[in-house]
Amino acid sequence: MNRLKEDLNYLEEILEQAKLTGIDFLAQLEKLSTSPLAGEVKPSKDLPEGGGALDALQLFKAYYQQLITASSGPRYWGFVTGGSTPAALMGDWLCSVFDQNPQSVSLNGDISAHIEHETIKLMRRLFNLPDSFNGSFVSGATLSNFTGLAVARQWAGEQLQHNIAADGMLPGIKVLSANPHSSVLKSLAMLGFGRNQLVQVKSKPNTESIDLDDLESLLAMYQDSPIILSASAGTVNTSDFDDLLAITQLKKQYKFWLHIDAAFGGFAACTPKYAGLLKGWEVADSITIDGHKWMNVPYDSAIAFVRHEHQNLQIQTFQNSNAPYLGNPATNFSFASTVPENSRRLRALPAWFSLIAYGREGFKEIAENSIQLAQQFGDFIAQSENFELLVPVKLNTVCFTLKHKKEQVDLYLDTLNKLGKVYLTPTVYGGQRCIRAAFVNWRTSEKDLEIAEEAMQQAYNTCFKA
Ligand SMILES: Cc1ncc(COP(=O)(O)O)c(C=O)c1O
Repeated sequence: MNRLKEDLNYLEEILEQAKLTGIDFLAQLEKLSTSPLAGEVKPSKDLPEGGGALDALQLFKAYYQQLITASSGPRYWGFVTGGSTPAALMGDWLCSVFDQNPQSVSLNGDISAHIEHETIKLMRRLFNLPDSFNGSFVSGATLSNFTGLAVARQWAGEQLQHNIAADGMLPGIKVLSANPHSSVLKSLAMLGFGRNQLVQVKSKPNTESIDLDDLESLLAMYQDSPIILSASAGTVNTSDFDDLLAITQLKKQYKFWLHIDAAFGGFAACTPKYAGLLKGWEVADSITIDGHKWMNVPYDSAIAFVRHEHQNLQIQTFQNSNAPYLGNPATNFSFASTVPENSRRLRALPAWFSLIAYGREGFKEIAENSIQLAQQFGDFIAQSENFELLVPVKLNTVCFTLKHKKEQVDLYLDTLNKLGKVYLTPTVYGGQRCIRAAFVNWRTSEKDLEIAEEAMQQAYNTCFKA
């Protein structure tokens, strides 16, 4: 206990050391390896007597710090991995300092819940989404897809006069999608639909976007069942968008719940040139947006938008029915009744800081920079002797392969990633194992393209010309 009291006395020094550690890391970010280093990972000490926070920091530095990769840096193009803007970082640090658990404005005047509502409002403005969407922060797009699809499931039950959240799952609900992100399938598994029960809609030739004729015939075929359509606004390989406007036309004729996974593609709304890709999304029933991707706020952050008119279904799904201390979920709006988690950190704060600090113009700049760099990188691939572009660059991802060594993608990636200059991940497109790069980090610049392209050539020579 003395240690704790002592640490409280040294709080300023402790925070100062944390700050210096952070500054040091961020100053090195562009030079740090993008891949795990081949170093010895020391096993943790046995649970010690406890030497206080500064002692823990020293130990952390000795054990782990030098092995931390630059996954938040400008040349980590694997998965869809964003970084942190300075303002987001500030908000995130303060989020831990304040250590709030946003729940309900009406129940206890909770200012942190108010901040979350305000941040959601600002996000709606950024995306030009109408106020008819409620939003709640969750830990990532996986949980956001889960939340949207959970409310969809409740809606589907209602179509059959059955309260699924109260009384259990029903068979016969049809979930349709063309190229869902793996997290949609994971959500179907968690929600009791079963991941193998997805009704696969065809894709338009040479794209990952939905074939509207096939969709319409499936909608017509299943009209006697409740239907949930999980549409994509930005697929991971090719950044394809389902034709949302056409889908909303189908919504006039056929009854279905429209969920849109716009985890990163939603940020197309920030650029006048690409905002049209999202036309129609304002009539969706639920939308997924990630914060820790193109928004560049630290992990973990995403928003689950659900139309206000479905609030009762959302509350039925997520309410705590035996916790009087949480108030009446029907009369006191509480985030504990809108998402899977009851307790959550004030995730809205990093997003709020970033939105206020950079505004519409800042997010336009981030999106346009990524798109421009993706296009430049795509040009490099298209003109290269060694690589082949598999699809034209449509937004911020580049999907390509080795022109003459298609079977050697894994060997090549392994060699490239070990150089630590740029990080790329494999994928499968059109049944073919290939490579993709995703541009979302606000710090990425043309200089990074040069460094990456040089490393790619070096790895190529090592693999195939030695
Ligand atoms: C389109 C899409 N949806 C969902 C996800 C899952 O996101 P998260 O890892 O934040 O849960 C991703 C992640 O890459 C994605 O690209």
